[in-house]
Amino acid sequence: MASTRKLLTVVCFNLLLGAAAVASTQPVHAPHVIVVSVHELASQTGVEIMRAGGNAVDAAVATGFALAVVHPAAGNLGGGGFMLVRMTDSKLHFIDFREKAPAAATATMYLDSNGDVTDDPWLGYRSIGVPGSVAGLVFAETHLGKLTLAQVMAPAIRLAREGYPLTWQEARDMRDDKYLGKFPESRRIFQRDGNYYKQGEIFRQPELARTLERIASNPSDFYHGAMARELATSIQKGGGLITTNDLANYEVKERAPVEGSYRGYQVISAPPPSSGGTVLLEILNILEGYDLARSGARSAESVHLVAEAFRRAFYDRAEFMGDPDFSKIPVAQLIDKKYAAAWRESIEPEHASISKNLKRPAIFSELEQYAAAHPQPTVTSESPHTTHYSVVDAEGNAVAVTTTLNDWFGSRVTAEGLGFLLNDEMDDFAAKPDVPNSDGLIQGRANAISPGKRPLSSMAPTMVLNDGKLFLVLGSPGSSRIISTVANVLIGVVDYGMNIQEAVNAPRFHNQWIPDVLSLEEWFSPDTVKILEQMGYTIKFGVGKGDEWRGYWSDAECIGIDPKTGERLGASDVRHNGKAVGY
Ligand code: DON
Repeated sequence: MASTRKLLTVVCFNLLLGAAAVASTQPVHAPHVIVVSVHELASQTGVEIMRAGGNAVDAAVATGFALAVVHPAAGNLGGGGFMLVRMTDSKLHFIDFREKAPAAATATMYLDSNGDVTDDPWLGYRSIGVPGSVAGLVFAETHLGKLTLAQVMAPAIRLAREGYPLTWQEARDMRDDKYLGKFPESRRIFQRDGNYYKQGEIFRQPELARTLERIASNPSDFYHGAMARELATSIQKGGGLITTNDLANYEVKERAPVEGSYRGYQVISAPPPSSGGTVLLEILNILEGYDLARSGARSAESVHLVAEAFRRAFYDRAEFMGDPDFSKIPVAQLIDKKYAAAWRESIEPEHASISKNLKRPAIFSELEQYAAAHPQPTVTSESPHTTHYSVVDAEGNAVAVTTTLNDWFGSRVTAEGLGFLLNDEMDDFAAKPDVPNSDGLIQGRANAISPGKRPLSSMAPTMVLNDGKLFLVLGSPGSSRIISTVANVLIGVVDYGMNIQEAVNAPRFHNQWIPDVLSLEEWFSPDTVKILEQMGYTIKFGVGKGDEWRGYWSDAECIGIDPKTGERLGASDVRHNGKAVGY
């Protein structure tokens, strides 16, 4: 078993290295502008827009629409996400375009007559949350872009109409997805009714091109016009809950990002309804009390300390996180450095803690009162697949976007006649107390289903400043592993002195409190693993099970700024086929 797994990893990693052309340890250097995303054509689109006079927001919006075409498994019109923007005047914007539960949603909508969770939260029409991506991208463009919507959408329209050659992985993903074929419109578009696309074939999406054109000429059509009616009709025909009213009532929220510091660097990240930024800052606050540089990158001592910080911050995630429009989330206490110091006292230098024995330091009455009022943690599902992209323009404006359909190809439902896939984001709510999800992720009452509510996310578009100057733009997909991936990359640069590409490439590890397991990517030294086991860790390599097992996870698409030269350093994740493009 172990040897099969190893072989698979070697094969996968070689394929990845082959596909990525060079497994470089050096980032792409660009003097002026850079875009890093999971698809070269999408990165090129962003760069093209900046060459045409656009700023980083124009480029990000163009990249987002292009990803909806060239990366349909996760780039999207039918999903949601978060955009963090920092303009050169230091002004921050956080645009929340997370999906919302439809008005007809109820707390028990996914339970069958025995009280068991059905497949509905993650597959098919009833899993769909009211999509936010179109509203979010249009909001960003009209408020912060320099060009017109039609200008920034033109490349995506062209890519949809003229098509693009599929890579081996893209053709395989469309062919092998277990569920796409259950939905006739998805089977027709992505699987050509069984005459599957092959590597190198041109994939054209005429319905999607038409939809994009309609949005470009009249963006309110998606939520308030004929397109809203077509979308709602198509979803309801399949048994889904979304109505034209749900679409008309969707609104983007501008929120204040969460902000903190780590070893003198300023860290800016996603606020609720994402847990991403709060959990990240809690982790970093706990780690600030240790000299990780002295412990050494990925030494057993470092992995132990970081894993214990992960464990504690994820414990708090389960208890406290949800949509801030529905309950007050105690972010200020959770990211308070005194709270982190109190947590540190429970970390033993040479032994793994036991997750079920963790006891929150009772130093803040706000946290105690909140926990008393929300006594039973509930378990919900967060499943893999999302995408992140980062942009920096010539002036130094920066954008970090993480966007998702939730699962790979979302609900697997394609909106009839409109050519785009819809999310299964309802799966990010807590469907039932104490039922573990695919990731075993536990969440609290603050994340119960309610009409109009946004499900809790882990997405963490993040920026790091050095002396008030942009230093890092970070983010990744990976469900709960998003947070530990961003932390791993950030620590790689700040504590271990890696360049951004080395930090992105470096082996990752993850702990999320429950299950009480330390997950490692495959490339750790056996000596380190042995020491960690002796400390009491239960180690699991990779992620997933059976055919779906992989020795690696996430897809960090990041940028660093060279503090001396100001050069933009683009680091696309070696684990996938993304690309940093700049000039
Ligand atoms: O919002 C979230 O946290 C999840 N829906 C994201 C899912 C994800 O990252 C999957 N990626 N591989």
